[in-house]
Amino acid sequence: MRILAIETSCDESSFAILDIEQKDTQTYYTVRAHTIHSQIDIHQEFGGVFPALAKREHQKNLIPLFIKTLKDADMLVEEKRGISEKEKSIIEAGLTHEKELVPLYNTFLENYQLPIFDAITVTTGPGLEPALWVGVNFAKVLARLTGTPLVPVNHMEGHILSVITGGQTEFTLPQIPFPALALLISGGHTELVLMRGWGQYEILGKTLDDAVGEAFDKVARLLSLPYPGGPEVSKKAALAREKNIASEITLPRPMMHTKNYDFSFSGLKTAVLYSVKDKNLTEDQILDLCREFEQAVTDVLLHKTKNALQEYGIETLIIGGGVSANAYIRESFKTLCADSSIQLYVPSKDVTGDNALMIGIVGALTHIKNQATKKALIPLDEIKACGSLIF
Ligand code: KG4
Ligand code: ZN
Repeated sequence: MRILAIETSCDESSFAILDIEQKDTQTYYTVRAHTIHSQIDIHQEFGGVFPALAKREHQKNLIPLFIKTLKDADMLVEEKRGISEKEKSIIEAGLTHEKELVPLYNTFLENYQLPIFDAITVTTGPGLEPALWVGVNFAKVLARLTGTPLVPVNHMEGHILSVITGGQTEFTLPQIPFPALALLISGGHTELVLMRGWGQYEILGKTLDDAVGEAFDKVARLLSLPYPGGPEVSKKAALAREKNIASEITLPRPMMHTKNYDFSFSGLKTAVLYSVKDKNLTEDQILDLCREFEQAVTDVLLHKTKNALQEYGIETLIIGGGVSANAYIRESFKTLCADSSIQLYVPSKDVTGDNALMIGIVGALTHIKNQATKKALIPLDEIKACGSLIF
């Protein structure tokens, strides 16, 4: 089975083409192509992602990136095939809100054969709704033109499954003991998710205000560091540790000891604001502040996760989302898991951020499950982008 996956939930346009094989109840994945086009340069001057701009950039970039992806997968066939009136009307009707994509789509059809997939999968949420819609409508048009099933995918489920690639182009779905626990830490989400199986999720707790990545980004902005701030704050924190800078600043660990699995990071950000406001911090004090901020976030994440692991007798922990790229957080969780014989899965560095590969992994599993249970496809008209989609 060959799958096309599309991701446009934030500021990355991404495609993946995967071959999936089911043998003896095992699922084998082969990545034929995986492309990501980041818009970071464009959003940087605004200090964050600007939804209308993200939408425009996705419209501009999807077709060129799709062509590159097909080429990488040896699926690009040039053919001056022209475009029928019916095809033209499918494109126009499907992209009434993404008009800039219409001429590009038309040119693609005029010059290339339509690629055939067994299924197309696309992120329908959560994320920035205008950005999500570009991918969703791109996918719906392709599904209509080729008569291919379209499978909607939850972006956060993608971040969970991103851990199975091991940085390889061939991998299988691991057999892990359930229940397992997933800690999702991204720019928009911070969640502890109890997994009763692949695809069976129960949210134990989530942030009541800012997400971890958002807090990193806001702290970076307070320190006039470029967007995305996570890696910048983390670099400064690492430097503080390396230089063994004296620790002068103490920040709170919000909600660390509350008897639930919810989080709150906006108070931490405000505490950083008060440490910075009207003060002329030296470079060493800034390094100290970044280290203490990263430590406070890590302490809270570790504490809550440890409690959940114990309460539910869990043997496997999965960490996913953009913030899982953070070296200090990764190391801290490695130590926690090594000390308590928990198997830890983290995404390889190429898939910590937003990408279509993780969407393809989930989409394939969903499609296989739907086929096995003879579940009807969701009609194309009913597939919609939803910025606040939950599991
Ligand atoms: O998952 P992701 O790529 O997008 C969303 O789905 O939100 O996460 C992006 C977030 C940003 O807030 C970014 O600052 C943060 O991940 N991030 C990091 C690091 N790398 C990315 N935060 C802390 N340390 C990092 N090394
Ligand atoms: Zn994400």
